[in-house]
Amino acid sequence: MKGGNLPVLIVAAALLLVACGPSGGAGSGRASQSEAATVEVTATPTEVSLPQVEGPVAGADVSNTQLVALGEIVYEQYCASCHGAELEGEANWKVRDENGFLPAPPHDETGHTWHHPDEQLFEITKIGTEAYVGRGYRSNMIGFGDQLDDTEIWAVLAYIKSEWPARIQRAQPK
Ligand code: HEC
Repeated sequence: MKGGNLPVLIVAAALLLVACGPSGGAGSGRASQSEAATVEVTATPTEVSLPQVEGPVAGADVSNTQLVALGEIVYEQYCASCHGAELEGEANWKVRDENGFLPAPPHDETGHTWHHPDEQLFEITKIGTEAYVGRGYRSNMIGFGDQLDDTEIWAVLAYIKSEWPARIQRAQPK
């Protein structure tokens, strides 16, 4: 999502749809090109649909509703495939697979994400578990530092924390 690629993707998808539409066949090329131009113009305003986060962000601030809203989108796009749409993690997440890899743990109160302070969660998300643990540790938790900027990482952590009950939020080490 770096540099706001989302609108570009939407435009590209719209163009693809137009290109693959039922109008195909000889002679229709010109018509679908002008259709494509119209789609591009009307798609531009979707840029504002990404929650805007005002001011500098230096933490996973659960009370910042803009940050949490952005984080929910980041979570769905970058984390849910492994950690689950409801933050539930993968089945048997405490048991290593036949190759020695741990499955993705839950991020809800049943996991141990909340046992770590924000700064630690930030580092893990940014550089990945292999780099974080070091000593040749192998893990499927990649670092997202080249796909997400710092605000987006704080945002996704703020979203995860916002899903915790108040008592778990209070119990998280600072
Ligand atoms: C390809 C699957 C995959 C994706 C996608 C993924 N993770 Fe993970 N994640 C894992 C696995 C597997 C682990 C456990 C790694 C280990 O301990 O070896 C993990 C562990 C973590 C941990 C450490 C949790 C703890 O309790 O120690 C954090 C934090 C985390 N992931 C955050 C995220 C965030 C935020 C995203 C989205 C930006 C994300 N992950 C996307 C697979 C994934």
